[in-house]
Amino acid sequence: MMTARMYLDYTVSSSVYGSDLEVTGIQIRPLQSDEPLPMDLLLLADPSTEVVETYIHRGRCFVAETNGEVVGEYVLIETRPETVELVNVAVRESDQGKGVGKHLVHHAIQTARSLGYRTIELGTGNAGIGQLALYQKCGFRIVGVDLDFFPLHYPALIYENGILCRDMIRLALVLAPNAQTHG
Ligand code: COA
Repeated sequence: MMTARMYLDYTVSSSVYGSDLEVTGIQIRPLQSDEPLPMDLLLLADPSTEVVETYIHRGRCFVAETNGEVVGEYVLIETRPETVELVNVAVRESDQGKGVGKHLVHHAIQTARSLGYRTIELGTGNAGIGQLALYQKCGFRIVGVDLDFFPLHYPALIYENGILCRDMIRLALVLAPNAQTHG
């Protein structure tokens, strides 16, 4: 369950998220409650509207902007005491491959750390070669496999890189207090 602490702390100054995020002209900020959800981006990372609806209102969405346009997002959800999950990361297709995804993941790590969480976790499909590379480059380690997660929870088969997306690879990063991530 999301705690009051988590909601409160999300409203603090964006300076806690780290100044390195301005290097590429990308600003990352919490999505405000009166702003529309970036559904096109959320569905890039998670192809089922039904599945997105199951978690989006329990979590907090952060958006990456450049020149006033939203080009990426991520969502954090508190899943267990001291543990937060990065459930959805996406970058607009025309802006992929420019480092925005890595910025978002490092920002999520810094946000989780600044909020006092000890572990940040995520799950990604076995077929997501690029995603597995990105998360491991950001410091995540593989900690498990949720066999047959995708056929059990998604209405249609998902293929990526010519591979059936069948199992969810679980990754985690233990957060050392005050440590910086590098991107
Ligand atoms: N092998 C090795 N490294 C790879 C790779 C591959 N096949 N594919 C990507 N990478 C690396 C990149 O080289 C880069 O590392 P580097 O900076 O050391 O070179 C890193 O992964 C990420 O690059 P970046 O440009 O920051 O990623 P991006 O802005 O394109 O964002 C995604 C990455 C996954 C968020 C983006 O492609 C996306 O939105 N995809 C669709 C949605 C999605 O699948 N989301 C993830 C759900 S789990």
